[in-house]
Amino acid sequence: MAIERTFSILKPDATRRNLTGAINERFEKAGLRIVAQKRIHMTEAQAGKFYEVHKERPFYGELVKFMTSGPVVVQVLEGENAVLKNREIMGATNPANADAGTIRKDFAESIEANSVHGSDSLENAAIEIAYFFAGCEIVG
Ligand code: PPS
Repeated sequence: MAIERTFSILKPDATRRNLTGAINERFEKAGLRIVAQKRIHMTEAQAGKFYEVHKERPFYGELVKFMTSGPVVVQVLEGENAVLKNREIMGATNPANADAGTIRKDFAESIEANSVHGSDSLENAAIEIAYFFAGCEIVG
């Protein structure tokens, strides 16, 4: 299996409830290595561009508002099949539909405050990683 890198965000609901350690433990126990990590408070412009693909969706404004409502932790996770593995660990977008034992089932508050973001493809992972990190900040 290929060693991949994926992009992850611990969202404002997770930082607000001091869940960053508990969530990181899930990643590490599943064999994903945190090879870059920083705590930031996204600007509206930064979040707006990051979620630009959802611009036409009705929740776009609320999503940007939520993602700028408090600090987030942006991360690069590395490991075998990291993109898909992280999607499995996170669980479904809506916690009501997430499987037992996933991060969103155990921690998410709602479809908006759903604790984590993870890239949905290897191609998007590379784009999202480059949006937040310089190459020298990623230490494998
Ligand atoms: S996904 O993961 O792209 O298949 O899920 P999707 O349903 O397309 O959702 C994309 C992101 O939008 C967020 N979202 C919402 N935010 C606020 N309100 C509503 N109703 C809502 N529905 C979806 C969802 O949490 C996804 O955020 P990210 O950061 O990409 O996981």
